[in-house]
Amino acid sequence: MYVCICNGVTDGDIRQAVKAGCCGMAELTMRTGCGACCGSCVETATETLEQLRAELQPQRDNVVGFPGVRHAA
Ligand code: FES
Repeated sequence: MYVCICNGVTDGDIRQAVKAGCCGMAELTMRTGCGACCGSCVETATETLEQLRAELQPQRDNVVGFPGVRHAA
C-alpha cells in the first residue's frame, strides 16, 4: 500500500526502514523522502512507523546502552 504518493513510499518501504533501525519520522523522511513534499502522508506514515516499530523492535525499549552508541538491527 502506498503511504506517500508524492515520493512513492509504501508500507513495505517503511517496514524495511524500521528493520534497518529507523526510529522516527524525521529519520524516515531522510531515508525515503516520505513526507518531504505536500506532507499529507505524515500522520499515516507516523502511525505506520510506530506500529511497525512496536511489532519489529519490541526488545529495544528494554536495552540500556552507552550514549551515542547505536545497537545493531
Ligand atoms: S504524500 Fe507524502 S509528501 Fe505528499
